[in-house]
Amino acid sequence: MSEAFLTIDSLQSGYGDVQVLWDISVAVERGGITCIVGSNGAGKTTLLRTISGLLSPRGGSIRLEGEEIGGMGPDGVLARGIAHVPEGRRLFKGLSVQDNLLLGAYLRRDRPEIESDLNFVYDMFPILKERRKQDATTLSGGEQQMCAIGRGLLSRPKLLMIDELSLGLAPRLVEKLGDALISINKTGLTILLVEQDVMTAFEIARHAFVIETGRVSMAGTTEQLGENPRIREAYMGM
Ligand SMILES: Nc1ncnc2c1ncn2[C@@H]1O[C@H](COP(=O)(O)OP(=O)(O)O)[C@@H](O)[C@H]1O
Ligand SMILES: [Mg+2]
Repeated sequence: MSEAFLTIDSLQSGYGDVQVLWDISVAVERGGITCIVGSNGAGKTTLLRTISGLLSPRGGSIRLEGEEIGGMGPDGVLARGIAHVPEGRRLFKGLSVQDNLLLGAYLRRDRPEIESDLNFVYDMFPILKERRKQDATTLSGGEQQMCAIGRGLLSRPKLLMIDELSLGLAPRLVEKLGDALISINKTGLTILLVEQDVMTAFEIARHAFVIETGRVSMAGTTEQLGENPRIREAYMGM
C-alpha cells in the first residue's frame, strides 16, 4: 500500500513532565474524512496540537506526504498545508468576521485567490457574509464554528483538522456543519475530525481511531466500529 497522506508513527507527546500520548499511530487517507474519537481527557486535543506544531513530539514521527513535520512549529506546519480549527473556536474579539477569516490567510501573498477563497466561504456559509462587519465573538456558537472553519479554509490547506465540531451546538446545527464538511471534502480537501460525540463523528467520517488514555485502542472504518458492541456501549449509549 502506498503511504497515507498523513502518517503518525509511535508518537509520544505531553506537557512538561507529564506524558499524555503514548505510541500513537494514525494514518489519514488522502481525500477522505478521518475521525479521532475518545472521552474527555483522552488526549485528542494534545494530538492535534502536536500535529499542528504547537507542541513538539518527544518521540515518533509525523509525516505529511512523506515529509517529516514533527517539531517544525505552527507556521512551518501551516505553510505545508495543515490548518487547525481549535477546540472552542478561538475567534479574536475586536475583529470583524471578515478580518477573523482573513487571519487564516496571513501567510499567503496571492491576493486574488484569497478573495476567491473568501467568496467560497461566504457561499458555503451565507450568514457569515451578512455578518461580515460584525465582531466575530458576538456570533452564535454555530456561526462562530462556521467562522473558525472558514478561517481554516482561508489558508487554502491540504488537510483541515477540526477539534470538537459539535461541542455545545444544537443537533440541527451539527448536522448542517457536518453536511458542510462533507461538501468541502468533495472539493478534494482531506479532513481530520476530532470528536467526543462518536455518533456524530461516525456519520461524517469514513475511518476512525479511538483514543483511550493517550493510546489508540481501536481503529477501523466507521461502519465496522459502529457495529462494535464495546464502542456502542462505551460511546454511543446503546
Ligand atoms: N496544558 C496542559 N498542561 C498539562 N496537562 C495538560 C494540558 N492540557 C491537557 N493536559 C492533560 O492532558 C490530558 C489530555 O488532555 P486533552 O488532550 O485536552 O484531551 P481531550 O482533548 O481528549 O479531552 C489530560 O489528562 C489533561 O489534563
Ligand atoms: Mg479536547
